[in-house]
Amino acid sequence: MANLNTTYMGVDLQTPIVIGASNMVLKEETLRQLQENGAGAVVFKSLFEEQLHLEELEMDEVTKEMDNRHAEMIDPFHDIKYGGPKEYLFQLKKAREILDIPLFASLNAIYKDSWVTFAKQIAETGVNGIELNFYAVPLNFDKSSQEIEDEQIEILKSVIDAVDIPVYVKLSPYYANVLNLIKRMDDAGSKGFILFNRLFEPQIDVETEAHVVHMELSNENQNRLGLRYSGLLYDNIKGSIISSGGIYHGNDVVKMMLSGADAVQVVSAVYKHKPQHIAKMLKEIDDWMDAHNYSSLDDFRGKLSQKYVKDSRIYKRAQYVGLLLRADSVFKKYPMP
Ligand SMILES: Cc1cc2nc3c(=O)[nH]c(=O)nc-3n(C[C@H](O)[C@H](O)[C@H](O)COP(=O)(O)O)c2cc1C
Repeated sequence: MANLNTTYMGVDLQTPIVIGASNMVLKEETLRQLQENGAGAVVFKSLFEEQLHLEELEMDEVTKEMDNRHAEMIDPFHDIKYGGPKEYLFQLKKAREILDIPLFASLNAIYKDSWVTFAKQIAETGVNGIELNFYAVPLNFDKSSQEIEDEQIEILKSVIDAVDIPVYVKLSPYYANVLNLIKRMDDAGSKGFILFNRLFEPQIDVETEAHVVHMELSNENQNRLGLRYSGLLYDNIKGSIISSGGIYHGNDVVKMMLSGADAVQVVSAVYKHKPQHIAKMLKEIDDWMDAHNYSSLDDFRGKLSQKYVKDSRIYKRAQYVGLLLRADSVFKKYPMP
């Protein structure tokens, strides 16, 4: 087997396939199988502050209802605090004990103070780093892009100052110039970048005329954004470059690395094809490296990044214009009347 070692947020990994944040980490057996099948590291599902507040509200409602039923008792539940992040931290610690490979936590808070408070508590569990999940969906017509970006950088800096483990970010691609934001975050000390978060959009059922919410897995080939931005970022930032989204095969990992990624995060492919799929992907990477005479990932990482591609149009808009001009193949495949 070729040397598949890589570095993720300054931490050495034996393979470049990192399991992205998801609920699959909640089962001990799954965790063991992820490790046995060669995952380089695991990211634990996010601690969502929003969820804690919802749980707190539900708890309040239950205790109020009990209060009403026992009107003679005055605040019988005054000692009970909602679980807070205790349950999350407990699960995280348990996962840390089960796994020998690096484990990272993921955090999505609401208030600046909570980002720091939760990050400190997470750091105490012994995880190898914290992923800040900047999952911001624009809702406010009055807040400028600059304000949103400045706030996120401020949160990043505060968390970095508060803990002594690597801190990095998972971003959405929807910024006016995500490269500029990444550069600023890189300068602020982010140890790396997950490219990109997948935002879940609302769906409408036309029969019931109501919104439906269901978790969809990504599809194969939904990975071009990660491919593009790895290529643009390669050799331009200090932090790790991690492609994510729609990565299903060993060849997808190879493409990301040719583009400039240090590692990848995978979730949907493992849900669909189970942990054994990781071993299959690693074998595909190994076979490809063997066929191309590469003995380590460093031998080909970034070979097709913006830094090295001779055709400068590849990463520019001209590529898009060129594609439109060469759209004949589409018309041939899908003839119009
Ligand atoms: C069931 C499920 C749960 C997820 N939970 C989280 C989460 O807690 N935090 C997070 O940042 N991303 C979460 N994600 C998003 C994944 O980490 C990942 O970014 C996304 O699924 C794209 O990668 P993929 O195409 O390999 O699935 C979740 C995805 C799925 C399918």
